[in-house]
Amino acid sequence: MSRVLVLYAHSAPQASRVNRQMVAAARSLPNVTVNELYELYPDFVIDVAREQALLAEADLIVMQHPIQWYGMPSLQKEWLDQVLEHGWAYGKNGNMLKGKRFLLAITTGGGAGAYSAQGEHGYPLAAFLPPYRQTAVLCKMQWLEPLVMHGARQADEAAVAAHVDAYRRMLEGMPPSAPFHP
Ligand SMILES: Cc1cc2nc3c(=O)[nH]c(=O)nc-3n(C[C@H](O)[C@H](O)[C@H](O)COP(=O)(O)O)c2cc1C
Repeated sequence: MSRVLVLYAHSAPQASRVNRQMVAAARSLPNVTVNELYELYPDFVIDVAREQALLAEADLIVMQHPIQWYGMPSLQKEWLDQVLEHGWAYGKNGNMLKGKRFLLAITTGGGAGAYSAQGEHGYPLAAFLPPYRQTAVLCKMQWLEPLVMHGARQADEAAVAAHVDAYRRMLEGMPPSAPFHP
């Protein structure tokens, strides 16, 4: 079974609806380590050596968070700035992440229809994701199709449960139980 590291960044985890259930499912799996960044680093001072050691052990690296202002929460960005060092994560001799798989698991407040040229957010969600993808590629990781839950505050319970189940199965390395269209 793959060793999975989940980088979980939610600035208000008690108020979360979907991410809270996703992370609970992740924590229940023996092959998964959940690294809850806002709990570990409330002062934004990141233990780079610890984070690099966790990354080195993982086969699958997951970034899980709600989309905020069309990107990642600020602590997740600070984590990238500090942890993915030149000569370690990228660059000619930076091969520590090479060949690992990378999964982005995000939720949005906006519904799927809001992410379109005619919608409130003006672009498809995919238009906001190239910096994530290129970060993974620069670090020589394998980019997986992101797992997305749109309209996370309004989605009905069955949709949330199906999403959490799909996430659990991905972390376990299982195929989806049914076709899944986020
Ligand atoms: C500061 C902030 C910025 C946000 N920006 C966006 C955004 O750019 N696009 C969007 O669709 N939702 C945005 N949201 C909504 C969150 O993505 C949404 O509340 C979250 O995905 C719900 O998941 P949760 O129940 O696990 O917290 C934002 C929320 C906050 C607090």
